[in-house]
Amino acid sequence: MANEQKAWWKEAVIYQIYPRSFQDSNGDGIGDLAGITHRIPYLRKLGVNVIWLSPIYQSPNDDNGYDISDYRAIMDDFGTMEDFDTLLKTAHEAGIKLVMDLVVNHTSDEHAWFVESRKSRENPYRDFYIWKDGRNGGAPNNWESYFSGPAWQYDEATDQYYLHCFSKKQPDLNWENPKVRDAVFDMMTWWCEKGIDGFRMDVISMISKDQSFPDGPVKADGYGDLSPHVCNGPRVHEYLQEMNRRVLSHYDLLTVGEAAGVTIDEAKKYARSDGKELGMVFQFEHVGPENGKGSIIDKWTTGKPQMPKVRAILNKWQRELEGKAWNSLYLDNHDQPRCVSMFGNDSPKWRVLSAKMLATCLHMQKGTPYIYQGEELGMTNMKFHSLADCQDLEEINAWHQYVDEQKKVSAETMLQCFDTVARDNARTPMQWDASASAGFTTGRPWLAVNPNYTEINAEAALKDPDSTFYYYQKLIRLRHAHPIIVYGTFEPLLEDSETIYAFARELDGKRLTVACNWTEHEVPCSLFDENPGEELISNYPSHKAGILQPYEARVVLTDK
Ligand code: GLC
Ligand code: CA
Repeated sequence: MANEQKAWWKEAVIYQIYPRSFQDSNGDGIGDLAGITHRIPYLRKLGVNVIWLSPIYQSPNDDNGYDISDYRAIMDDFGTMEDFDTLLKTAHEAGIKLVMDLVVNHTSDEHAWFVESRKSRENPYRDFYIWKDGRNGGAPNNWESYFSGPAWQYDEATDQYYLHCFSKKQPDLNWENPKVRDAVFDMMTWWCEKGIDGFRMDVISMISKDQSFPDGPVKADGYGDLSPHVCNGPRVHEYLQEMNRRVLSHYDLLTVGEAAGVTIDEAKKYARSDGKELGMVFQFEHVGPENGKGSIIDKWTTGKPQMPKVRAILNKWQRELEGKAWNSLYLDNHDQPRCVSMFGNDSPKWRVLSAKMLATCLHMQKGTPYIYQGEELGMTNMKFHSLADCQDLEEINAWHQYVDEQKKVSAETMLQCFDTVARDNARTPMQWDASASAGFTTGRPWLAVNPNYTEINAEAALKDPDSTFYYYQKLIRLRHAHPIIVYGTFEPLLEDSETIYAFARELDGKRLTVACNWTEHEVPCSLFDENPGEELISNYPSHKAGILQPYEARVVLTDK
């Protein structure tokens, strides 16, 4: 597509910060805004264009900031509005844009709207949330929340239930109510006027619910699945178009919707290239059960994805959105395990090579790449020894439900599941150096530091010209130097291979060939035999004819 619509956010590389775990500046063991400001030079060196900040708003922290009690105030743990203004200014001066997390499917139960709403059925804020009568002395329907247990909470004061798709401290907003939309759009405008550069919209595919609230299909744990009735609901596109008209279109923003359960057809609407809704969406197929890692119960698994499945999913998204909508590219984030542990090989022998290979495979695809903090260091999953090592309510609730109450999974198996997919794997503190607590804090970190910090840390990476850090830096520079990486068409190659993920990109008479060996064995590969071309990047200093070495990645530019 030589005439693809150009946009700054298509050419950018995004760096996600989970503020709680990035850098503590005052010794209380919790990362904060001043800590992030202090690390702007590091991000500048890496070369990223945009920071996406996970939520920093006032919050009682039931779900680490994804439960907001005041959208216009900063969480006490993270600092003050002045600290925010300093961060925004410092980032902008360094040429880095700032994208905020926008969590508007739900608020905290401590938000003033909900405090009012639960007071009486006549309260002016009653319809800000979703209240229903019970059914046969129980909840209004069989839905299970994403964080275990019923999705409805009974409230004695008014003898009704409210809906919470996540924890009971995260009541869902009622988007059917135009006053909710007015309030959300006002708040968004307020942040835009402050000069932020975009929004990552939390579970935005869930804001429109099936108004008949039917039972969901019954799952292995006995509850009903709410997803079919809350994801990509009947009015979601209408709401986003209204948001676009009233807020987004007045600014030059990066917008990305987290879209649980999104299909390709839906994504084409959310991320439609006429710009009437969002810039792009996060889809979940390649990190979800569809990627062939199997599951023990719900999301809990000890399995690893199979490359051919991952490739089939990613190639499908590449092919089908071509020219119609824009892809986002990611392998991990604050809700996923570390990508080198999940998709690569985190043993000391292969960790660096496989991390570079994965990065190559992702960053050479068409779309906007996202780097999750520490990914550029090849940070790995954690080892959990007991429930006491965990902080995330998703893990804790799942343990109570599946291990303690339903006795469906043994404690030992559940811990192995945690080692594999728990969200806390990605939330351990950023590993800055080899000093105590990895230079993250001078106090006691809120979540234990991964013990491998003495070897895997930013200071060591910056001293080593072969580190994953410099490899990511180079990938980012290449993207900025070669329009073919941003705008070139995508063509899958070797789709029958069990071991190699290969593809080509084309633009203006040039062709980029990318081949990545996802295994620890040498595998035959003849893609580069005929036309040696110009090598843009590789994780090996030299190559073997007709072969890809273990976890080898090669990117070669040729004339067409
Ligand atoms: C999103 C967030 C996740 C959070 C959930 C509820 O999936 O990424 O961290 O727990 O929404 O807000
Ligand atoms: Ca702090």
